[in-house]
Amino acid sequence: MSEKAVTDTLLDVDGIETCYGLSQVLFGLSLSIKPGEMVSLMGRNGMGKTTTIRSIMGLTPARAGSIRFAGTEVRTQPSYRIAKLGIGLVPEGRQIFPNLTVRENLVAAAADRFDSPNPWTLAAIYVMFPRLAERASNMGNQLSGGEQQMLAIGRALMTNPKLLILDEATEGLAPLIREEIWHCLSLLKSRGQSILVVDKNVDHLARICDRHTIIERGKTVWSGTSVELMAEPDLQHKYLGI
Ligand SMILES: Nc1ncnc2c1ncn2[C@@H]1O[C@H](COP(=O)(O)OP(=O)(O)O)[C@@H](O)[C@H]1O
Ligand SMILES: [Mg+2]
Repeated sequence: MSEKAVTDTLLDVDGIETCYGLSQVLFGLSLSIKPGEMVSLMGRNGMGKTTTIRSIMGLTPARAGSIRFAGTEVRTQPSYRIAKLGIGLVPEGRQIFPNLTVRENLVAAAADRFDSPNPWTLAAIYVMFPRLAERASNMGNQLSGGEQQMLAIGRALMTNPKLLILDEATEGLAPLIREEIWHCLSLLKSRGQSILVVDKNVDHLARICDRHTIIERGKTVWSGTSVELMAEPDLQHKYLGI
């Protein structure tokens, strides 16, 4: 990789404003991710985390500001085109195909648009999530919550995304399954996967992420490293209600 590619920003969200109808939710929100970085997006419920992700993906387009992904302005692009540029989304609520098998869910997503040096295969997904291998022939709706979450992550990885986005991926899961998901995320990070993660577990986020973004009422109110985050416990109290 050239030095330029290493130092370039992969995702640069700058001052976006997003509305649902007449109701404005994001008011100049900014965040950035460099290649290989794992960055968190934190904030209390209803502050605009999912809306930020929906804006990045073009599902609820931002009406102002700029969203540059891999050098392309994508703010006004349709979501299928944004996904094709290399963003894999693990949405809130998982949204796997309930009437396809595990294997079919994964195969349906497969796409290697970037000639990745080490593209994901079904076999590699099954190594990361052995439970999915055991459940390969089961329908999506026969899976436990944890298995559905693993499938949602596997499905996003099968697109070989430059950026993986996870929205509340550990929400509602049993503690042991959560640990499995965190373990998977640290493996992905060590492979060099760029990741944007929304989650409520600050301790895990601080341990695994490079940088953090805290939002409040649709605005970025703080960003910094894990060391800076842990050095300011007031931040967590003030913005996360912890
Ligand atoms: N489809 C929608 N239509 C109208 N308002 C919405 C919609 N989705 C979310 N909102 C509102 O936008 C705000 C931010 O929501 P959201 O982005 O889901 O927050 P978070 O993910 O941080 O919990 C909330 O006030 C929520 O009620
Ligand atoms: Mg949300």
